[in-house]
Amino acid sequence: MKHSWRWLLSFLFLAPAWLSAGEERTFTLDLPPASLGQWYRPANKHDVWLHLMFSLRRDMQAVSEYSALEKPELLRQWLDRLEKDYRRIGELVPEWQDELELELFPKMRKAGSPEELGRLQRKLARSCEGCHREYRLGAVLRYRTPDFSVVKVESSESLEEEKYDRVMQRLVTLVNRVKIASADGRWPAAGEALEQLQVRMEDLGESCAACHKDEAPRERILGEAAQAALRKLADGLEQKDSGTVGRYLGEFAVTSCARCHAIHRPLAQLRQLLEKTEEAGDPK
Ligand code: HEC
Ligand code: HEC
Ligand code: HEC
Repeated sequence: MKHSWRWLLSFLFLAPAWLSAGEERTFTLDLPPASLGQWYRPANKHDVWLHLMFSLRRDMQAVSEYSALEKPELLRQWLDRLEKDYRRIGELVPEWQDELELELFPKMRKAGSPEELGRLQRKLARSCEGCHREYRLGAVLRYRTPDFSVVKVESSESLEEEKYDRVMQRLVTLVNRVKIASADGRWPAAGEALEQLQVRMEDLGESCAACHKDEAPRERILGEAAQAALRKLADGLEQKDSGTVGRYLGEFAVTSCARCHAIHRPLAQLRQLLEKTEEAGDPK
């Protein structure tokens, strides 16, 4: 299949570049055709594409099992289903129509033995793998990564939206203000910044629900551990002890900020990168 060849060729050409030390290294990622996007949420109500893929995997397994069990009627039904689902790839994404190996289906139906059917099925599986090797990661990154462009807080009356990077900039400013003011003995200013930080974190906590229906993720990042660090930090301010303030400010930054970043930030940034690439390559 031509995909596999392209992959192999690029591998051969790139390999020497990887080996020579000190040179700038890049990798390329093929983005799937834009028409794939309509089969994912939020453009669609369901993740249609993903469910088609789950069906295909199930169809493949059923065909193997009924072939081994020698149940011709069930085998025929599942082969029909497999063909219908496989054809659907080209119906959903017309650009992929030519990649399909449809000629394998009449051959599979005529196969004289489980071994022959197995051989044809492995050929079909290679067409699945060829496409996966080229596009799977690109599809996951483009259509299944969370969108962190705006902070969304839904209250009973309204939906408030604010740019994510601005919200974050304000948090880091407040964290640093607590640190600077306490180091220089400006205790009232440090206390004020801490209060504002707590309010902002509370607001940020309200935005988790845009993606998380349960409370557990919020508790993990903004729950008791973070609250305990903030309480000790407030004690340090009360006692005018900048060492304690620094220590618990650090603990808070690790339990809340750093942990949340470790989970969400690489995904947020990859998505932004791919969206930009798509906009640049798509003269509208
Ligand atoms: C022309 C492209 C193409 C072909 C052909 C194709 N797929 Fe896929 N498949 C994809 C893409 C793109 C993804 C990534 C979707 C995602 O994760 O959002 C994928 C993902 C999958 C997944 C992973 C779902 C998961 O997250 O666990 C399975 C299973 C799968 N495909 C099965 C199959 C089977 C079986 C076949 C062949 C009978 C097949 N696919 C043929 C494009 C293709
Ligand atoms: C734009 C969508 C989005 C927002 C908003 C969001 N998350 Fe997540 N989060 C995800 C995705 C996607 C995952 C990975 C899959 C999953 O676990 O749902 C994840 C995973 C997590 C995990 C690890 C898995 C788990 O369930 O324990 C934690 C913890 C978490 N998020 C905490 C938070 C907190 C706290 C907030 C709010 C301050 C938040 N998230 C806001 C999308 C989001
Ligand atoms: C949802 C969990 C979450 C929590 C909790 C969180 N952040 Fe962030 N933060 C993010 C995400 C996601 C991004 C990436 C946003 C983007 O790239 O647009 C980010 C980006 C940032 C940035 C870079 C902003 C920019 O201009 O690109 C800074 C600075 C930052 N966060 C500081 C903090 C600080 C300080 C805290 C703790 C007081 C914190 N964040 C808590 C999720 C979180």
